Amino acid sequence: MENDAVKLAPSILAADFARLGEQVAEAERAGADRIHVDVMDGHFVPNISMGAPIVQSLRRVTRLPLEIHLMISDPDFFLEEFVKAGSDSFLVHWEGNDNLHRTVQQIKALGKRAGVVINPATPADVLEEILPDVDQVLVMTVNPGFGHQHFLFTTLRKIRRIRQMINQVKSECDVEVDGGIDAETAPLAVAAGANVLVAGTAVFGESDGVVAAMERLRAAVQQLWKQPQRVELRAR
Ligand code: DX5
Ligand code: ZN
Repeated sequence: MENDAVKLAPSILAADFARLGEQVAEAERAGADRIHVDVMDGHFVPNISMGAPIVQSLRRVTRLPLEIHLMISDPDFFLEEFVKAGSDSFLVHWEGNDNLHRTVQQIKALGKRAGVVINPATPADVLEEILPDVDQVLVMTVNPGFGHQHFLFTTLRKIRRIRQMINQVKSECDVEVDGGIDAETAPLAVAAGANVLVAGTAVFGESDGVVAAMERLRAAVQQLWKQPQRVELRAR
């Protein structure tokens, strides 16, 4: 994989909500590839975050694709509202959805990209039947619900396995990782096969600003191409 094939998806969960438009514009200028919007309902995960009005406001300040990570109990019910607000893609969890295929079809029918998400304790094998129908797989590298948690290193093996599955079935499918991604863990995830990195705290929570933070992440991934053996050893 080439370095520029690794995409960055800043998660606004860690942004300063009083300056949200400014911070997203800054991330766009710094070369973000998409904006990750975490939607939580206080039921599917023990936290409440944001809804479609935030997407509607963001749509006015950025041209970047807005990807919506739905951590809610009834994703189907809200899809249309989020599409009207200007969403470009949806990430829906395998967990708690008895009709995942229907949800994915509904997203496709709305003309949007669909991704499936699996939690740290969920094995890669559950993806087998749905893989041909999705545009991306999101591997949670923390338990969903909160930003600023520690990366779970046990997920690296699963990322490698999913990359293998995708190479066999649908090589254009993105492998995205979410949670605890920083300059130390980003190269490990990429070495394992991820090509999209969601980062909240490591982009919006750094004292030297969004541009410097994103440069650090890119430089860390770049290191991988310079010293692949070193990173691969740490990733084991
Ligand atoms: C957690 C969310 C993440 C979160 C990541 O449930 O899905 O997208 O914003 O935050 P960091 O990068 O701070 O771990
Ligand atoms: Zn997320």
